[in-house]
Amino acid sequence: MLNSALSSFHNDATSHLQLPKVSLWKWNKFEVNLVEAAAKHAKVNTLNKNEAATSSSSPCLANVVTNNGTRRHRQLAVDYYAKTCPNLEQLVGSVTSQQFKESPVSGPATINLFFHDCFVEGCDGSILIASKQGSKELAEKDAEVNRELRVEGFETVRKAKEAVERKCPGVVSCADILAIAARDYVHLAGGPYYQVKKGRWDGRISMASRVEPNIPHANDTVDQLIKLFNTKGLTIQDMVALSGAHSIGFAHCKHFVTRLYNYKGKGQPDPNVDPKLLNALRMYCPNYGGNMDIVAPFDATTPFVFDQAYYVNLQKKMGLLASDQALALDPRTKAFVQEFANDKNKFFQAFAAAIDRLSLVGVKRGKKHGEKRRDCSMHA
Ligand code: HEM
Repeated sequence: MLNSALSSFHNDATSHLQLPKVSLWKWNKFEVNLVEAAAKHAKVNTLNKNEAATSSSSPCLANVVTNNGTRRHRQLAVDYYAKTCPNLEQLVGSVTSQQFKESPVSGPATINLFFHDCFVEGCDGSILIASKQGSKELAEKDAEVNRELRVEGFETVRKAKEAVERKCPGVVSCADILAIAARDYVHLAGGPYYQVKKGRWDGRISMASRVEPNIPHANDTVDQLIKLFNTKGLTIQDMVALSGAHSIGFAHCKHFVTRLYNYKGKGQPDPNVDPKLLNALRMYCPNYGGNMDIVAPFDATTPFVFDQAYYVNLQKKMGLLASDQALALDPRTKAFVQEFANDKNKFFQAFAAAIDRLSLVGVKRGKKHGEKRRDCSMHA
């Protein structure tokens, strides 16, 4: 199975998918499969629009404190824009489905963008702000760890916002558009459909210095990961389920190269890397001086399909990052890995519930705390 998924560098096939020029994997086959798979999943997905795991349209008052005397804002709700922008989801959907066809990497790019937005200052579109020329403090987007975020995620939001502004000017926040686009891509790649609660305002603060301590790293221990997710109100199960987003997408060599050659400074590879995967990855990620643009898929078996193969692979020591692999080894997370590997529906349900909770982290409400931007990259 590994051999069929791992294949040699194929420059022509990558160019029309806008992947980095040098890449480990052959894309043309995947592209066809992906579009077919997405169409098939849209029909047969057990968690479809009518029976989504978090389909409750009940409103949610996320992190909002309203005291007497302060203006009370409407709560987050699935139908928040029912009167002001009734076709919002279709408008965003037309952009995400087009982008997905033209450039499937837009999917993982946007889901990752959403995660990085929510973990720093909350789900408030603060990651979309461009740094001001001459300003002392860079914006979140320009923090080192965010410089790797693919342009396709930002492009998706920009295009969707343009489409929305044409029909409903000045109404919908960039934060809500990002949340909807991330959901669309999860579903387009074959994952669960879930309802997105809306009513977020865009954040007024975007500071690069706030990024580093709030974003997990590939060499973090399970202990560190649990603590970080816990500070966002997310449980261990949420964390393992959300890590299932690594069922699609790619990582640069620098995030796992020490596992291949010098794990924990001992001059040996990580014993928890499958030997075949180790050899394949070593061919493309040399110990020193390799091409910085090379990426490898998190899920070596079905890199473009949002499924439970990520967890199955972890059980076979085929996790890409040390932090992924650790989830299958730590007693606190292992049972969830096993449960999700064995049962796709359980994974989908847990993922839908966890991303719903993620989407409520640090939400801003009202003019006092937020803004509605027309151009997502500039404060209003
Ligand atoms: C549990 C802790 C996590 C760690 C340590 C982690 C780390 C990473 C790293 C190092 C990359 C590769 C970046 C690059 O080389 O460009 C990455 C990519 C990605 N992450 Fe995570 N991540 C975590 C959790 C999450 C969560 C919770 C989500 C979403 C819900 C997520 C979604 C993604 C996606 C979709 C990509 C692929 C991006 C692409 O291909 O453009 N990650 N992550």
